[in-house]
Order: sequence, then C-alpha cells, then structure tokens
Amino acid sequence: MSLVTTKDMFQKSLKNDYAVGAFNVNNMEIIQGIVEAAQEENAPLILQVSAGARKYAKPAYLTKLVEAAILDTGLDIALHLDHGEDFDICKKCVDDGFTSVMIDGSKHPFEENIRLTKEVVEYAHSKGVSVEAELGKLAGIEDNVNVDARNATFTDPEEAAEFVEKTGVDSLAVAIGTSHGAYKFKGEPYLDFERLQEINKLIPDTPLVLHGASTVLPEFVAKCNEYGGDIPGAQGVPEDMIKTAAKYGVCKVNIDTDLRLAMTAEIRKYLAEHPEDFDPRKYLGPARDAIKGMVQHKIKNVLNASGKR
Ligand code: G3H
Ligand code: 13P
Ligand code: ZN
Repeated sequence: MSLVTTKDMFQKSLKNDYAVGAFNVNNMEIIQGIVEAAQEENAPLILQVSAGARKYAKPAYLTKLVEAAILDTGLDIALHLDHGEDFDICKKCVDDGFTSVMIDGSKHPFEENIRLTKEVVEYAHSKGVSVEAELGKLAGIEDNVNVDARNATFTDPEEAAEFVEKTGVDSLAVAIGTSHGAYKFKGEPYLDFERLQEINKLIPDTPLVLHGASTVLPEFVAKCNEYGGDIPGAQGVPEDMIKTAAKYGVCKVNIDTDLRLAMTAEIRKYLAEHPEDFDPRKYLGPARDAIKGMVQHKIKNVLNASGKR
C-alpha cells in the first residue's frame, strides 16, 4: 500500500480493455467515499487534484488526506495533478510527492504545447513521476459537432503520434467530443469513435485519457431539482460510450461532475427533510455514502465492463 505512479495501472488496463477511474477530490468526505468504493471493488485508483482544489483546501491537507486514505484502506493510489497549466505548478506537485501530473498545454499552438510538455516530462521523469498531456480542445455545448468544427478542435491522429514521439509523455488526453461539466450535449450525445480508434491505432502503446467523462446520472440531477436545485437539461456521456472508449485505448476516465451532483443531491435532500438539523456530519455522512455508491457502480459496471480487471 503506497502512493504509486500510473505506469503499471495503465499497462494492465491497456492490455485488458478496462479503464481506471480518476476522481477529483476537494475534501475529506469526497476522498473517503471514493476510496471506500475502490476498496470494496479492490480497484486501481487515481485521485486527482486541480489548481482550484489546491487553492480551496490548501495543498498539504489534500496530500495528507490521501496519505491517510492509503493507511486506512491499504490501497495503492496514484495522486495526480489535474490540468496543470504551467511548468511551475507541475514542478510544485512533483516536489510535493504527487506521483503523476498533467501539463495541459492544449490552449497553446502545437509546437509550444510540445515544448512545454517536454519540459515537464524531463523534470517529472527525473523524479520518477508520470506525465499526462492534452492535445485538441474539449467540445463545449455550442460546438455540437459539424465536421468542420470537429476537424478544427478534436485531436488529430497524426499530430497525436508526432506529439507523443517528440515529448515522451506517458499518457495523452484526447478531444473526441466530451466536455467538462453537466451540460455536455444539446441533442443526441456524440463521440467521435472513429477518430479515437485511429489515434489508438497510431499510438497503441500510449494510454489515452478521457476528460469530461461524467455520465451526469439522471437520478442525482432529479434529486437536486426536487429539493430546490435548478439544473435543467443536464446531460452527460452515456455509460455505453465510456465502455466503448475503454476498448479503444482509453485507460483513464476523469470524473468530477458526478461527484459534485451526488454530494449536492444528498445534502439538499437531507437539509430539506431536516430543517432543524445543523450538525454537518448529519448531511455530509449521507453525501459521502452517495459518492461511495455512485463510484462503486462506475468501477464495477462501467469502467470494468470488459470484466478483465
Ligand atoms: O476539469 C475540471 C475539473 O472538474 C476540476 O474543476 O477546476 O473547478 O476544481 P475545478
Ligand atoms: P466531468 O466534468 O465530466 O466530471 O470531467 C472532469 C474532468 O475532466 C476533470 O479533469
Ligand atoms: Zn478535465
């Protein structure tokens, strides 16, 4: 039981058509809900921390909570920086004991993305830390998919191959139609699986990463709305699409929005039904349980649909 890199996790998942869940963490209850689920499923696990999470919780708290989770559960966990925007934050996380960092240079021109990624790879690898990079732009809800927009923003397979070769990056986040948040599609959900297959064919040994992969479970959206929330028209990536992605080289599936929805739904429900209560443990407990149930369902039925883990 220890903090581990993603190297072994990804090698196994690449060979066996399953994906590892990468869950965003911001506080103790979120971490506990996730690790309890992973423990029951005996699943590989990535806990990831964004710049926003580091700002909210302060870096030391999150690192120590993850260490506590390892002590408590006996799990091997990868601690990953999500969407590092420059060299400095990646270096800071490497120096703080993270076992994996993402350098997100996707907003830069291709050559600059290569330069920046390479710089991070050189530093991280010298300390035994894995690196994820991103190429292409995640779709927004307005971008709903005409061919020209797709070609302009989604990951180009030839560029992906060149990028991996030139940077030596360990895994690559690809843009095939997902987006962050709870409003991923206006009409029918669409992901460009042809493109994903092409990328996977050109760089078969590179683990691919799917950002914006929450399924936006209707059950939690409905519960939020029933108890005073206002999130109409939310729509995520259908579970079957995540299962398909795992067959085409996607080893890491990023989930944050589903955690937020599960937590908020339970807190709303509890407070609406118990207006007299003001003990945070009373509503954070059910929120933690909801996270555990949701994560367990994903690990078992969606991420490991191949059944080969
Ligand atoms: O990709 C974004 C993640 O959901 C993290 O979100 O920057 O609000 O922590 P955040
Ligand atoms: P969701 O918003 O779909 O949960 O995606 C999270 C993510 O990609 C974190 O990097
Ligand atoms: Zn992301």
